[in-house]
Amino acid sequence: MSEERPIGVIGVGWVGLVTAACFAELGRRVIGMDIDDDKVKALNRGRVPIHEPGLEELLRRNRERLEFTTDMDDVLDSGRLLFCCVDTPPTYSGDADLSQIQSVLSQLKDGGDHALVMKSTVPSGTGRAIRRGAPGLAYVSCPEFLREGSAVDDFLHPDRVVIGADPGDEWAADAVEEIYRPVGGEIVRTDVASAEMIKLAANAFLATKISFINEIANVCEEVGADVTEVARGMGLDKRIGPSFLRPGVGYGGSCFPKDVSALKMLAGNTGYHFQLLTAVIEVNELQKRRVIAKLEKHLGTLAGKKVALLGLAFKPETDDMREASSLVLASRLQGEGAEVRAYDPVAEDRAGQLLPTVEMCASVEEALEGADAAVLVTEWPEFADLDWDSLRGRMSRPLVVDGRNFLDAERLRKAGFAYEGIGRPSGNGAQAQAAATESSTASSGVESRPD
Ligand code: UGA
Repeated sequence: MSEERPIGVIGVGWVGLVTAACFAELGRRVIGMDIDDDKVKALNRGRVPIHEPGLEELLRRNRERLEFTTDMDDVLDSGRLLFCCVDTPPTYSGDADLSQIQSVLSQLKDGGDHALVMKSTVPSGTGRAIRRGAPGLAYVSCPEFLREGSAVDDFLHPDRVVIGADPGDEWAADAVEEIYRPVGGEIVRTDVASAEMIKLAANAFLATKISFINEIANVCEEVGADVTEVARGMGLDKRIGPSFLRPGVGYGGSCFPKDVSALKMLAGNTGYHFQLLTAVIEVNELQKRRVIAKLEKHLGTLAGKKVALLGLAFKPETDDMREASSLVLASRLQGEGAEVRAYDPVAEDRAGQLLPTVEMCASVEEALEGADAAVLVTEWPEFADLDWDSLRGRMSRPLVVDGRNFLDAERLRKAGFAYEGIGRPSGNGAQAQAAATESSTASSGVESRPD
């Protein structure tokens, strides 16, 4: 029976590795394949190449059920269900780049008795095209909904598992359903095109929710409302729900920016203009840049000012820098002439490669030494308990821009800081405001903008 053969996982990047480890945790034997020889060697030696909470332990605990190889024949010889987890990055046109999937397909030859289970995010229509091109191959769409930083938990406790198959491939969909049954969550059995669309639509909707609350936050700033109160009041309506209503410096990562753009392009390629997503993308781009005006309000010109970024990864609990808002923000700050330094608990190496002119610091204290402002970009839990009373003494000016509304504004103000959040009233006492602005006006000769 198919379930007694090892499960093949093709591509052991972030999705593939979490998938392989969780299948093993469910008691399945797994053979993971990747073209990256170094990665495969490291995994076979028990080393985990990415930062994902709980993953290392899972891999260690289930080692005897896991094997990694660079040879596709190893996978084809033993596995029947082949979970495809290769990358589908955006191309210059905004479409998804399917070349890695094409490369996998070219190695599957006639399909044998295999079923390809697509976990990579692909445009709606891809599965049917693959099925037409490889008639011997069964095909199942099983999109993943894992979040980086909580992927293991999401996998083992899903809200739902979507399994799409077209007529003739029910046996493969049944086999996938059986693998997933122990984790619970509603199983959504549907056709391939709908399963593909569920994934894109879910990500696009969540991104829309974020851009929506970011715009509400921006309006709150104009009218003196507090967006955290507004989001709370909105989220209690069950039809809206409280999640993904946290305003900030924009969404990033390898998924939302790519999938929103891919869905927009998918629609565009059929002749349909998805206007809403055009706005979602633009709002997100502008949101990353709004920190500049908040800093200028207190510091005047940013030329020559030292700005410390706290957190660089696109969200906490990951070292992933793909489409991180910090990349745009750091470049914008440098474009204004600021000297940018940064601290991130785990993303320093990856960030250092992408931002070679930003000074990477080993601690918050080092980053804030002599700084004119601190900008919280990623809400790492360790930033919640910083001793701002003592940090104030290190900084040239007591100014904090909280890009995630994560810090305790009152505590900061009591410590003498001028505090700027996203979509919240400034409420800075005259003293803090003056402390943050006085030397800037003196040194730059530029008037700070009125509140
Ligand atoms: C997202 C989806 O949440 C997953 O369901 C999906 O499987 C995944 O994409 C994917 O397609 O692979 P992920 O990119 O890991 O997961 O991260 P999220 O936790 O969704 O956050 C994405 C971005 O939105 C982050 O930059 C985060 O800071 C931002 N965000 C999130 C907000 O700005 N506000 C919020 O309220 C929530």
